[in-house]
Amino acid sequence: MSTGSGTVSAEMPGKGNLIVQVRAHGRTARPAAALSSPVVVPHRGVGETVAKIILFGEHSVVYGYPAIAMPLLNLRMRARVEPTGGPSTLRCLDWSGRLEETPERFASTVRAVRAALDFVGDPDGRFRITIEADFPPERGLGSSAAAAGAVIRAILDAHDVSASDQELFELTQNAERVAHGRPSGLDATATASSVPVWFQAGETHAVEINLAAWIIVADSGIHGSTRETVGHVRAEYERSPRTIGRRLAALGRIAESSAEDVRIGDVEALGAKMNEAHAHLAELGVSNDRLDALVEAARSAGAIGAKLTGGGRGGCVIALAATSADADRITRAFGLAGAPNTWVYAPHAYEVAA
Ligand code: PMV
Repeated sequence: MSTGSGTVSAEMPGKGNLIVQVRAHGRTARPAAALSSPVVVPHRGVGETVAKIILFGEHSVVYGYPAIAMPLLNLRMRARVEPTGGPSTLRCLDWSGRLEETPERFASTVRAVRAALDFVGDPDGRFRITIEADFPPERGLGSSAAAAGAVIRAILDAHDVSASDQELFELTQNAERVAHGRPSGLDATATASSVPVWFQAGETHAVEINLAAWIIVADSGIHGSTRETVGHVRAEYERSPRTIGRRLAALGRIAESSAEDVRIGDVEALGAKMNEAHAHLAELGVSNDRLDALVEAARSAGAIGAKLTGGGRGGCVIALAATSADADRITRAFGLAGAPNTWVYAPHAYEVAA
């Protein structure tokens, strides 16, 4: 890792070399090449998943409309489980202690542990569980689904038990219900994928991306609560089903049509759709001043489009840049606007099997 010089040298990478550059707290790094196969579990008792961003379709996906999400392959969630003679323990973020005393904010992780132990037929198994993330929690990057997915895979790995993709999805969803209430399943899918995904009502497939552009992800530094924003949209929908229903349908149409834009590389169309989607999400009440300011900063710095990503009212925004010079300028603008972390991606570089 080298100290950041204030520039982003974002040359167009080749296939399989997804990540352009990462900047966190003034430092920059060129991380290892992306995974080229589905999530790898290299050792016994180890599970790994990744962060994700939603390009289009947050919130409307909960109502059955499609969404497109991109895994961020350099931002990993790693879980390790080791048998112990004493009581089970969990180390995760700032918490370390007995599993049974774990605070409520880790309830979905604890549910994931219990569900996975039941699945492998070892409900009373005692383990030292460690979860480490390369990315911050509660930022719309899918940390709860990623943590659940990683610990489930680690427990299965420790017991040498395999599961189908559908079983892994169900186990993760089970934990996500604790975190989010009625999650669409998009996070559980995208955080376990190595390629961008189309997701609709539990069905998923890989998305082909031929986009000669850059996506800059900026962390607002504010914790978002997906449960709260999903609940807010639900309440609004129940109050005004026609108005809110029309907005959700519009978000659904944007997501649906964007699949062709990313396939043929229509950067202008995508940027316009990002702006449109952000406006709808703001009207739904899931943006806030901070996210709007970051979106505005990106547009002023030359972004073709920008929007919030994930649950909203905190978390991250994403911006689309046509050139590396623009990506550089937008990254700096995000920094000046107070984003504590930014990450730059070249989405065309995912390897999607034909
Ligand atoms: O904020 P995140 O990363 O958990 O994303 C939530 C996405 C929503 O569409 C708002 C909720 C869902 O269940 O899909």
